[in-house]
Amino acid sequence: MKRALVFGASGQIGTPLLERLNDAGWRVFAVSRQVRSDSPGRHWLQGDFSGVRDLPESVEAIFSCGPLDMFARWHANASIRASRVVAFGSTSAATKHGSDDGDERDVARRLLGAEAALFSQSEQRGANATMLRPTLVYGAGRDATLTRIVQLAQRWGRFILPRHSDGLRQPVHVQDLAAAAFAACTATATHGRSYDLPGGEALPYREMVQRVLASLQPPPALHELPMPLFQLALKTAQARGIALGITAAAVERMRQDLAFDLGPARRDFAYAPRLFQPEARMFESPVTIRD
Ligand SMILES: NC(=O)c1ccc[n+]([C@@H]2O[C@H](COP(=O)([O-])OP(=O)(O)OC[C@H]3O[C@@H](n4cnc5c(N)ncnc54)[C@H](OP(=O)(O)O)[C@@H]3O)[C@@H](O)[C@H]2O)c1
Repeated sequence: MKRALVFGASGQIGTPLLERLNDAGWRVFAVSRQVRSDSPGRHWLQGDFSGVRDLPESVEAIFSCGPLDMFARWHANASIRASRVVAFGSTSAATKHGSDDGDERDVARRLLGAEAALFSQSEQRGANATMLRPTLVYGAGRDATLTRIVQLAQRWGRFILPRHSDGLRQPVHVQDLAAAAFAACTATATHGRSYDLPGGEALPYREMVQRVLASLQPPPALHELPMPLFQLALKTAQARGIALGITAAAVERMRQDLAFDLGPARRDFAYAPRLFQPEARMFESPVTIRD
């Protein structure tokens, strides 16, 4: 029986990955900071990146579905043997490295540094690493973009965007990412490579939000405001502690195309993400972990 060690196993991508591994007959060692109950084929290890108790000596594959930089630091000192390392990073490594916002540039720098470290550590240990970079993740009611938009829209009964929010987006479903991690793990062409993992459709930011709002019952209205008016409304909301995550850089990006090529992933491990067809349940309370 093949064995895997999974970090970030309770997360929105980790949860469907565990199901996929178990369904394919793998034995999974899943890491969490919480105490969780085992189930057939799944053993939870309590710990974090500073240490995990009772790690096995070897597994076929280590998956990272949590913070990449912390995983890379853990991996540098880990003694567990594994011939495969499959780790999620983010397309933010590419989209934020030139940002005006220093915090965003720092995110990009940490992601790129962690990717480079993981490739070099894995090579030194005779393991093969693959990096997966999702775009905008949705599907489990736990993402920081579309689920947050739904929460705000339901609170206000409407949502506002600056006019001309036409930058392309490719939202990607968590189940497609879990499938990608599993498929990439067993495809030798992926060894030593990074892949962008966009969703199956590119659409303007405004249309992405429109489709999400249309999936809700009742559907909140979408209002498009001239930029100065939008900024005034946002400032007012933020003064009341609302929508604090919508930074000036994030507003600017709504008009920028953030589009990535899924061709290499399709060629090397038959990546085939779904079209963007949101349903209200995808933005509801978090998925429950199947124990
Ligand atoms: N969400 C997105 O839109 C998005 C977009 C692009 C890329 N990604 C990348 O995809 C990967 C998975 O994303 P995700 O949203 O599913 O993951 P996540 O929610 O950020 O984290 C997944 C799990 O990792 C553990 N974790 C989080 N922070 C931790 C910390 N400081 N120390 C130890 N454990 C920690 C938590 O498990 P426990 O609480 O059980 O310990 C959490 O459930 C990440 O690398 C993320 O950067 C996400």
